[in-house]
Amino acid sequence: MSADRWKAQAAERALDFVKDGMKVGLGTGSTAAKFIDLLGARANGGLRVVGVPTSEATRAHAERVGIPLTTLDEAPFLDLTVDGADELDDELRLIKGGGGALLREKIVATASDRMIVIADASKRVARLGRFPLPVEVLRFGLKATMHMVEALAAEAGCEGEIRLRTGADGVPFITDSGHYLLDCAFGSIMEPEALDEALKLVPGVVENGLFLGIADAAIIAGADGVVLIERQSDGEDA
Ligand code: A5P
Repeated sequence: MSADRWKAQAAERALDFVKDGMKVGLGTGSTAAKFIDLLGARANGGLRVVGVPTSEATRAHAERVGIPLTTLDEAPFLDLTVDGADELDDELRLIKGGGGALLREKIVATASDRMIVIADASKRVARLGRFPLPVEVLRFGLKATMHMVEALAAEAGCEGEIRLRTGADGVPFITDSGHYLLDCAFGSIMEPEALDEALKLVPGVVENGLFLGIADAAIIAGADGVVLIERQSDGEDA
């Protein structure tokens, strides 16, 4: 079975956690998109939910499939966020931002009572860092910020190439909030908490793609079936 089908299975299982009347954070990426399609169908069938999108792409998608939307200004406390991830480890620590939406994703997830990650099994790693860590930075002072990220990450035990994300045309990628993204190929991140703390010390860093202590559960679909993993508990069959 393909990764695409596994993403759909994980998204479908996440629907079980959506109850009538909930305010739901809507993630970004190809896995979250499958959840949005399914939630749209439920909303059209009478389920009362309102969504808060984590990107402009997700906003457009949710509108297209008929999910009523609100904003964090109107609804600052959400019941649930369902989102994908680029990587997750056994402690449900995540790397996110491959799709460029990490800042809004982190704001929406932390405004939620519960965050559930949906992913195919390829996203599960023993140690974070195979996927280059996205770091959202201000456009002002880019070079200085890159140097400081490099120096403080090294103090936290992380070294590797730091690249400004660009499109195929070589033009820098601009996030929905108007910032640049650095993709940091650090390899294995031995101490994600130390790296997170270090990156927070850089004035030009807006946010980084480490989601630590944010995800409450993960639904992972793969060749062995669909598994629900809850933070600080053992996995069980979903
Ligand atoms: C978006 O910025 C990311 O955090 C996505 O959640 C992540 O890249 C997962 O995307 P896929 O579901 O497309 O792999």
